[in-house]
Amino acid sequence: MLKPTRIFPSSNSPTLAGERLLEPILQTENLWKVYRQGKVEVPALRGVSIEIFPGEFVSIMGPSGCGKSTMLHVIGGLAQATSGRVLLDGNDLTTMSDSARTLLRRHKVGFVFQRFNLLPTLDAYHNITLAQHIHGNGFDPHRFQVVADLLGLSGRLKHKPSELSGGEQQRVALARAIVSEPKIVLADEPTGNLDTKSSEAVLGLLRQLNQDLGQTIVMITHNPEAAAYGHRVLHMRDGEVVDGSSVH
Ligand SMILES: Nc1ncnc2c1ncn2[C@@H]1O[C@H](COP(=O)(O)OP(=O)(O)O)[C@@H](O)[C@H]1O
Ligand SMILES: [Mg+2]
Repeated sequence: MLKPTRIFPSSNSPTLAGERLLEPILQTENLWKVYRQGKVEVPALRGVSIEIFPGEFVSIMGPSGCGKSTMLHVIGGLAQATSGRVLLDGNDLTTMSDSARTLLRRHKVGFVFQRFNLLPTLDAYHNITLAQHIHGNGFDPHRFQVVADLLGLSGRLKHKPSELSGGEQQRVALARAIVSEPKIVLADEPTGNLDTKSSEAVLGLLRQLNQDLGQTIVMITHNPEAAAYGHRVLHMRDGEVVDGSSVH
């Protein structure tokens, strides 16, 4: 197990070795998400307050149905909170219009999903760069090359998803998530569809992105060994974060 390269302040340590206080890149305050199905209300998040600091790699664990995916969707601006606040890089997602939230998400968040979510008709290169070309986020060829090299994709860019292994597809999805230099990467069980060897490769790459590029990462996983790749683990149960201990 590699040691984290930095130490992060907790809420009771206001300064970090004489440096300026780090502001959280992401913060939630008493976050609630209640799904309504007809007359039935399903409270998926019940008062979640967390802080994620720049450069952290945080794992989220908890039983199926405890609200992990809902939390990722709400903190990443894919879904609207019912109440409470989400501050992403100083912007309050909960008071924004849908269109403003979408715009912020495109610029600041990279998502990775269990099922890769690549477009089957496009090759790897175009899957990685499509959003940047559509939304004019400023395609940077140098950044693209750094990302493709780091993820070992340079020789696979002309291949469509059906011509790539699961591990390669998830590496393409990772490249797509980080090519625009998002403030935070949110990964929902990124190794859930991969065999052990590919899982280890993807987890190792996530750790490398965190250490080499300083990429802030929040990753949901079922697997304690995968969770241990992060600096700390948030444990969820019944819509609440019940423990946020450090693993190192
Ligand atoms: N779109 C939805 N509509 C209604 N209920 C939902 C919806 N999405 C999730 N839920 C419910 O919210 C709870 C949390 O789900 P989810 O966030 O997917 O949990 P996890 O990712 O931890 O398995 C579950 O009870 C689930 O059935
Ligand atoms: Mg889920």
